[in-house]
Amino acid sequence: MDATDTLATSSGIALTVNDRPHTLTVDHRATLLDVLRDRLGLTGAKQGCDHGQCGACTVLLDGRRVNSCLLPAVAQDGRAVTTVEGLAGADGPHPLQRAFLEQDAFQCGFCTPGQLCSAAGVLAETAGDPAPTDEATLRELLSGNICRCGAYPAIVRAVRQAQAEGRGASATGAGAGNEEGPA
Ligand code: FES
Ligand code: FES
Repeated sequence: MDATDTLATSSGIALTVNDRPHTLTVDHRATLLDVLRDRLGLTGAKQGCDHGQCGACTVLLDGRRVNSCLLPAVAQDGRAVTTVEGLAGADGPHPLQRAFLEQDAFQCGFCTPGQLCSAAGVLAETAGDPAPTDEATLRELLSGNICRCGAYPAIVRAVRQAQAEGRGASATGAGAGNEEGPA
C-alpha cells in the first residue's frame, strides 16, 4: 500500500441488486441507501430518520433485513441486495404486495417499502413454522419499522394473510384474514 492508497476516498465494489450485477466506485462515506437511491435510481427504499430508528430504508442483504442507512456501501462488496423494486416476480406482484393492497395496509405509503422488505424477511425467517405467526410475535418482529400513519393493524393482517397463503392454509385466528377490510 502506498501513500496514494491511504488517502483514497473511494473504492470499487460489486453489488448484485435485484438480481442485476453492478460494478461501482463508491465514496467511502456513502451508505448503501445512498448508492441504491442516488446511484442506481432505486428510490423505493426511503430515507426517513437516517439513524437506524424508523426502518423506512429496510432492504434485504443476502436475504436478511437491514437498515441500509447504517451500512457503508464500501463494506458490501460482493453481496446481494433486494429492494422493494425486486420483490415482484415475472408473474406479478409479490404475495405481500397483493396482501397489502387487499388489506389496505398503508395510508401515505412512505414507510410501505420498508415494511414490505421487513415483512419479506419475516416470511423467510418464519418459513419453517407451520402456522401464521401470532399477532404479538409478528408485531415484535416488525417493530423496527415505524408507520407514522398507524396502519399497523392492517399491516399485521396483510403479513399474516401472505404467510397463510404461502403455507396453503387459511388465514384464521386473531387479527388475520379480515375479508371485510380494515376496521
Ligand atoms: S432511514 Fe434508515 S432506519 Fe430510518
Ligand atoms: S403508511 Fe404512512 S407512514 Fe406508514
